[in-house]
Amino acid sequence: MDEQQIKSRQRVTERGEVFTAEREVNAMLDLVKQETERIDSRFLEPACGNGNFLVEILRRKLEVIRRQYQKQLGELELQTTIALSSIYGVDIMKDNVEECCQRLLDIVCNWYSEIHPQLKAPSQKLLAVWSYLLHRNILWGDALTLREPVSPKASIIEQRDANPITFSEWSFIRDMVIRKDFHLAALVQAQSASVPFVKNDQGNEVFLPPDPIREYRPIHYLKIATYYDTK
Ligand SMILES: C[S@@+](CC[C@H](N)C(=O)[O-])C[C@H]1O[C@@H](n2cnc3c(N)ncnc32)[C@H](O)[C@@H]1O
Repeated sequence: MDEQQIKSRQRVTERGEVFTAEREVNAMLDLVKQETERIDSRFLEPACGNGNFLVEILRRKLEVIRRQYQKQLGELELQTTIALSSIYGVDIMKDNVEECCQRLLDIVCNWYSEIHPQLKAPSQKLLAVWSYLLHRNILWGDALTLREPVSPKASIIEQRDANPITFSEWSFIRDMVIRKDFHLAALVQAQSASVPFVKNDQGNEVFLPPDPIREYRPIHYLKIATYYDTK
């Protein structure tokens, strides 16, 4: 086992924390290769650690964006935002969540600077949007209870009352975005209830989502970081 795959013996024992090596990550992602190369396909890693799977999914999406939009800066920035908005993770360890967000942000910023050396870095506004999306999508939570973690000493009532994990769905219509918030528990329940999936007009199987707990009005995507916190 590679040293980078574990942080400490204690964490291996207590949380089963052994990170997956890059070769295995890629072999597994190749099983759903087409989806990993679709810019807007949504991925959720329910025990994401410091992000080994999510990082590779992002790299694959960015490669598609580079090939298609390298010469159109506005479109490249929009598609990169869509790609980031589709990547979700949960982990019970706060430091893993923070590390995962930072890794994803570093990858996207370095990639952007390589593609556009004359710009050096994304604008402050765009950077704030990317950072906001990552911090809203990569959440500290317990994937078993589908709630924020509580201390092992918490009472049954405290466990029951812990905040539910709430994800935001980001749907883009050109450069406008609609945010809808869902409890993860409701999404999981709806998914098991809708198997086999309903078919749409084209005969494709689709997942019928539950009602959102909140839906926001459409806004321009560059307002993502400033708009929601005031609502
Ligand atoms: C085997 S590691 C895998 C990490 C990552 N998926 C990877 O492949 O590199 C397991 C991860 O699950 C997290 N974990 C353990 N119990 C969890 C729970 N109940 N809810 C969410 N995450 C949990 C640990 O903190 C750890 O990061």
